Amino acid sequence: MKKSTGPEKTKTAVFISGKGSNLKNLIRCSRIKNYPFSVNLIISNTIKAKGLKYSNIFNIEKKIIKYDKKIKTDNKILKVLKQRKIKLICLAGFMKILSKNFIKKFNGKILNIHPSLLPKYKGLNTHFRAINNKEKFAGCSVHYVNSKLDSGKIILQRRVKISSKDNHKSLEKKVLKVEHSIYPDAIKKILN
Ligand code: GAR
Repeated sequence: MKKSTGPEKTKTAVFISGKGSNLKNLIRCSRIKNYPFSVNLIISNTIKAKGLKYSNIFNIEKKIIKYDKKIKTDNKILKVLKQRKIKLICLAGFMKILSKNFIKKFNGKILNIHPSLLPKYKGLNTHFRAINNKEKFAGCSVHYVNSKLDSGKIILQRRVKISSKDNHKSLEKKVLKVEHSIYPDAIKKILN
C-alpha cells in the first residue's frame, strides 16, 4: 500500500512511559492507512520506556522530558510542541498526570487511552479490579483529557468479554488488542 504522509495530516505528538504498543500502532496507521494524522514527535518522561525504540525504527524525533508538575516543565514541553507545530497530543500509556496549566494551554487537543470502560475503573490496575469485582465485561476508552483523572468526554469505547479463565494478564492482552483498533479510529473521528 502507498505511504501517505501528505502535509494535510495533523501533526501529532505521542506521550509514552512504557512499552509503546499503542505508539507503534498509531505510527503504522498514520503511515499506511488513510488516517488524517502523522506522528511527528515521541515524548517520554523516562529513558527506560521501551517504546522509545520506535523513534529509531520509524525515524521519528524523540524527547525525554523528566516530567514534574512545575511550570518550567510545562513551558519546556509547550515550546517543543510549538516549534514542531504539533496540533494534537495522544497519551499512550503515559503514566504521569499533566498539570492543569498544560491541559488549559492545549485544551481540547489532548487524548488518552484508558484500559477500562470509563467511568468505571479510573486509575491503575483496571483489569485486576474488574476481575475481582466479577465483571462480565472489560474494555477500553479513548477520551479527551481534562483536569480530572480519566474523566474527560469519551470519544470511543469498546468492550471485551471476560471469560472465567481470564486473569489480569490475559485480559490485558485482549484489551490491548482492542485498544489498537479504537485509538486510531477515535483520532479519525475527531479530526474528520
Ligand atoms: C495501555 O493498556 C494503556 O491503555 C494504559 O497503559 C497501557 C500502555 O501500553 N494506559 C493507562 O493505564 C493510562 N492510565 P503500551 O505502552 O503498550 O501502549
